[in-house]
Formats: sequence, C-alpha cells, structure tokens
Amino acid sequence: MTPKTPNRMLRVNEAGHLVVGGCDVVELAEKHGTPLYLYDEAEIRRRCRDYLSEFGTRFPQVEIAYASKAALTMGIARLMDQEGMALDVASAGELYTALQANFPAERIKMHGNYKSDLELRMALEAKVGRVVCDSLTELEQLDEAARKMGTVAEILIRVRPGIDTHTHELIQTGQVDSKFGVGIFGGEAHEAIELALKCEGLHLRGLHCHIGSQLLETDAFERTVDQMVEFLALVRDDLGFECEDLDIGGGLGIRYTEKDEPPTVADLAEAICPRLLRALKNHDLSVPRLILEPGRSIVGEAGVTLYTIGVIKDIPSLRTYVSVDGGLSDNPRPALYDAVYEAVVANRVEEHAACEWVRVAGKHCETDTLIDDTCIGHCEPGDLLAVFATGAYNYAMASNYNRFTRPAVVLCCDGQDELLVERESLADLISHDRIPKHLAAKEAAEDCKQQG
Ligand SMILES: Cc1ncc(COP(=O)(O)O)c(C=O)c1O
Repeated sequence: MTPKTPNRMLRVNEAGHLVVGGCDVVELAEKHGTPLYLYDEAEIRRRCRDYLSEFGTRFPQVEIAYASKAALTMGIARLMDQEGMALDVASAGELYTALQANFPAERIKMHGNYKSDLELRMALEAKVGRVVCDSLTELEQLDEAARKMGTVAEILIRVRPGIDTHTHELIQTGQVDSKFGVGIFGGEAHEAIELALKCEGLHLRGLHCHIGSQLLETDAFERTVDQMVEFLALVRDDLGFECEDLDIGGGLGIRYTEKDEPPTVADLAEAICPRLLRALKNHDLSVPRLILEPGRSIVGEAGVTLYTIGVIKDIPSLRTYVSVDGGLSDNPRPALYDAVYEAVVANRVEEHAACEWVRVAGKHCETDTLIDDTCIGHCEPGDLLAVFATGAYNYAMASNYNRFTRPAVVLCCDGQDELLVERESLADLISHDRIPKHLAAKEAAEDCKQQG
C-alpha cells in the first residue's frame, strides 16, 4: 500500500505501520530501540546508479565520489565500493574508516581546509587517489612530506570560483568570502597552480571546487562550469597547465518537505554536461575526467529517524508540544541551519488524514525543536514518530550532548535489517573518562578544597 499523506508517498503495510526497505518499523523499534536511524539500502544503491548512468551517458569520462561526510560507517563504505563509487573523505577518521572497510585507496579523495601532518602522512602512506589541496601552505607542507617519503602526491587544487548560491549561508562554500580553497579572483589560484607545477613532490592532476549544499536549482552549477572553464583556459595559456580532472563537488539538494523541488540527477547532468563540453570546445581545451561529489543526494532521502513519543503538552490556544526521545544530539540540523522536516506517526500511518498541527520537541536541556509546526496524525505517548530525509548529516553530526548515547544505525533491505552501527551504551559514555589523580581520593579532594 502506498498512500499519499499530506506530505509524501509512503510504504505502509496492512497493520498501518510504516515500512522502510521492506521492514516494519514497529518491529524495528521493538528489536533495536529508539531513537533509531534507518537506511533503505535499495534507495541508496538506486541513487548511486542514477548518478553513474546520468553523467556516464552524457560525458566521456566520469567519476562519482560519494561525499562521506554526509554519513559514513564501514558498511556504507563497502556499499559505495560495490556500486563503483569513489569516496571523498575529509579527516583522518573518515580516511581510517574507509581504509578499514577495504575501500580501494586509489578511489579516495582526501579533503580538508586544514589537514594536519598526520592526515597528510596517512593519505600519502595509503596512496590515496587524490589529495585535494586547499591552500598554498598545504601545497608546501604536502610537497615536503611527499619528498621526505620518497613519493609523489597526486593532487587537485581546490579553487574558490566566487559563485554565490541560494542556500543557507552556513552551507555556501564557493563564494569569494569563504575559508575554502584558493581564490580565482585575486590571483591566488593562479599562484597555487604555478607553485604546484614546480614542486617535485606533487603531481597536479586537476582542479576542484564545491560551491555549496542543498542547492535547489541548477543555475549556480552552470555558472560554476563557465567560470571553471574560463579559468582553465587562462592557466593553460599562462602556465601550460592541462587539466586531467575537473571536480565540481557536490551540492544537489533533496526534498526535505513537499515545498522542496530539487532538480533530478538527470536535470543536473543535462544542465552541466553539454554546457561543459561546449565550453571546453570553444576554448580549445581537452576534455578532462569529470568528477562529482554528491553526499546529501545519495543518502539523505534514504534515511528515516524513528523516535518514541513521550510527553504531549497542550498549551491552550497556542500549540501542542510532542516530545520525542531524541533531539539535538541525533539531529542538530534544525538548530544549525533552520532545517525543516516532515514526519508521520509511524505505527498508524493511515490515520494521517486526521492531521494535527504540533511542534515536535527533543528531550535535551535546550529548546531543541525538531520540527516546528508540522502536521502529523493523532498521537499518544508510546507512539512512534518517523522523521523523513534524515540520512545526511544526522548520524554524521550526532553528539553525546547531555550524555545521550548515540542511536543505532540500521540498514534495511528486502525485509531484512542489519546493524551498521550499534547503539552506544552508558558504559561507552564513560569509557574515555579519566579521573585526575588528585580528584580520585575523597580526602585528596578535600585537602585541595581547604588549600584553595
Ligand atoms: C568538498 C565537498 N564535496 C562534497 C560535499 C557534499 O555536498 P552535498 O552533501 O551537498 O552533496 C561537500 C559538503 O560539504 C564538500 O564540502
């Protein structure tokens, strides 16, 4: 059964329970507890294939690198490998996770606006496919590290194309005033390429840019392509640099609510590929490999978070607060980006027609509104609430605020559920705590107090 609620198409079984990846979410909640992150495996795979085929049929050479910051576990890295994706990592932890999952190093891109010596060394030791250099300082640092190790780093240079996007200011990254990359305007990018070409420890393969996230139109991507090709022509003429890889980052938006109408992957490919090929031809440039780094649009809509509803408070003539057993710690996006979500009462979805407007609140010691003013079905304490499109930057950004344990992450496919990540235990919470010696003994603490 696939009823259309006021919000979206849903899979619902005869019991009126929401179904994710063929699994009844009520059974999942009983088995794994709540809050619970769920992923629909088939949906993730479908989206990877969509990117590979829509871009692969429109451009001669394409690589699609999943931006693992959106959500990474060893299982997700394996899944991406099986789908023939490359991987964008942005920290020692993401790189370590990918390598531990046996993700092929040659398909890994190492990102970061401030890579530590350890991170650069790890990338070189693992022989990752590309290190994406973000500054002149880093070029020098990496060159030195590579020469010391008797190797040559395969690199891209991240440039700031100076493109403004229509998205939340905290997820704009390609504008002139941004901490990321080296600016095309002002000559820094030109200088960086000149420097990289001289460094014996570096092999400059191409350029990278990433203009922002949750982009709901293709126009900014189109302007980026134009800008990058103009710049490629300039540095070819000035420095003789021929670009082998052109990486235009990620950023395609997803449908968080019914108001969002993101372009499809096909729309994006159609907007970018012919335009890029035309522009390259006009400037007599050879055709590079085109790289994309989607994160949110691969896993975002494949994810659902399941909560148990607790206290319901009605403030007469004002609003009803529905509290759930998670909040800011499992989903900081509403607080960070004013992100908006949709939800249903997952154990009786068919009653959604009886819409009730509520505010969904978390259980942290903050005003952690998860969804402001949303229409869900009638609910009571003990019901399950499913919040949609929580697959990107939710688990990845989860914290232990208020010493909450981070939820389990479950992958659902064909009615089978398997853990991607175990729920943290209370013991996990204190596993890294240490009691300083002088606080260990009560007497010592008292001595200290008296001295103070
Ligand atoms: C360098 C880079 N590539 C790709 C992405 C993925 O973006 P999105 O999840 O919007 O596709 C990001 C996100 O911040 C990024 O910084």
